[in-house]
Amino acid sequence: MTRLSAITPSGHAHIGNHLGAVRRWACEGRPGDLYFVSDLHAMTVSYNPARLRALSRELLAVLVAAGIDADQVFVQSDLVRELGALSWVLECACSFGEAARMTQFKQKSDSQGMVRLGLLTYPVLMAADILLSGADEVPVGEDQTQHVELARSLARRFNTTYGEVFTVPTAVTPPTAARVMDLSDPGRKMSKSTQDAAGTVFVLDDPDLIRRKIRRAVTDGEARLEYRPDEQPGLANLLEILAACLGKSPREAAAAYRSYGEVKNAAAEAVIEELRPIRTRAMDLLRDPAELDRVRAHGAARATERGAHRLAAALRLSGV
Ligand code: ADP
Ligand code: NA
Repeated sequence: MTRLSAITPSGHAHIGNHLGAVRRWACEGRPGDLYFVSDLHAMTVSYNPARLRALSRELLAVLVAAGIDADQVFVQSDLVRELGALSWVLECACSFGEAARMTQFKQKSDSQGMVRLGLLTYPVLMAADILLSGADEVPVGEDQTQHVELARSLARRFNTTYGEVFTVPTAVTPPTAARVMDLSDPGRKMSKSTQDAAGTVFVLDDPDLIRRKIRRAVTDGEARLEYRPDEQPGLANLLEILAACLGKSPREAAAAYRSYGEVKNAAAEAVIEELRPIRTRAMDLLRDPAELDRVRAHGAARATERGAHRLAAALRLSGV
């Protein structure tokens, strides 16, 4: 069994990414699973090339620092030749109507000045990611299931039209993990792409900055120290973060403190301790570019090797 998961370098990794995904990826320890930094997907909207390059390295360092095996992690663009070739094969197995039906394109293109053609075709690139890797399971949220469906359709269609090459992937719902909200606006999910960083705790923030951000977190008018996500979403978010770091339930966490101030201090210290070893290892890697290059090249070679026979067969069966 192989599960394929990705993180897009559209910004710095934050505690939502860590508590909601990366920490679990590192603990699961399923040797067949694969994780990648999806830098090619970050090119579908306006972006800065130098920043993208730096963020891709940073996210790779964070994944490895969190404990993901270097055999199981790679940067997507290190496979750009393979993925570009397979994307073309799959675009020619995909109808225009199928691509045009993707609801995420409709949502994302509304907010763009220039709508890049890549924004329309990126689900086909995502199909190439999945089918090249041979993954049978793709853990995705609600917003991505349609894209995994497309990958399924393209795999089946290619297999029946040209010959059996691809594993037909299934979308799986990831186990429920913490959903971390923005500290400045608990109505909004903490996200890499949020411009105002005051409400986002990044994995590489130093301890003092983490303390400041958490102390300034928006809490709710009422002073009851209870876990009530609907009535007191700001406090509930802090309790959830604290609970996730300590391995408790949010209610247990609420019962252990007497004031909002105590909860904030405890949350800050718990987050700092949770992130400390990851931050240390990631900073070491980022300060040693040659070592990070070695990690990166190793992952790229493994991923290329794994997909090579599928790409070769797909091209051969396509008649090219
Ligand atoms: P972002 O939304 O920050 O750009 P990605 O879309 O790259 O993050 O998602 C990477 C992983 O992190 C996914 O598995 C996603 O579910 C998880 N994730 C992202 N934001 C949060 C959050 N606020 N709370 C919990 N998990 C999150
Ligand atoms: Na995102």
